[in-house]
Amino acid sequence: MTLGRRKLLLIGSGAVCAHALGCGGDSPQLSPVIDAGNEADVATGTLRAVPRKGVAIGRDARGIYAVSLICTHAGCDMSQDGAVSSGSIQCFCHGSVFDGQGNVLRGPARDPLPHLVVTADASGELTIHGDQTTAADTRLGT
Ligand code: FES
Repeated sequence: MTLGRRKLLLIGSGAVCAHALGCGGDSPQLSPVIDAGNEADVATGTLRAVPRKGVAIGRDARGIYAVSLICTHAGCDMSQDGAVSSGSIQCFCHGSVFDGQGNVLRGPARDPLPHLVVTADASGELTIHGDQTTAADTRLGT
């Protein structure tokens, strides 16, 4: 099989999605109630994806926070097609990279990842509210 010049240009420009599902088209909707485990299990200096929920939960020196993992470029769910750590959030669809706070480090994405409201019950069980965004400096209980 040979590829025509046009197809090679599309591939070279990054216009071809690396994954047939999970990018392009309509962005997935986040659930309004997402179980994110217990606050005792979220160590300072960590950020981890909640598997297949499109969100990440983390803790920095200021407290616990949550960030959307729906890529602001074309809607890939980075909890499925990405890599998440406190240092970076990578989208496997077209290569965007965000820092652990959701700020864009490398495009094609231009916009940061929204932060989401996190609440805890009396026993410390965390809920991320996927339908409620908040300021990037908001932490649990603030
Ligand atoms: S959807 Fe394109 S870089 Fe993430």
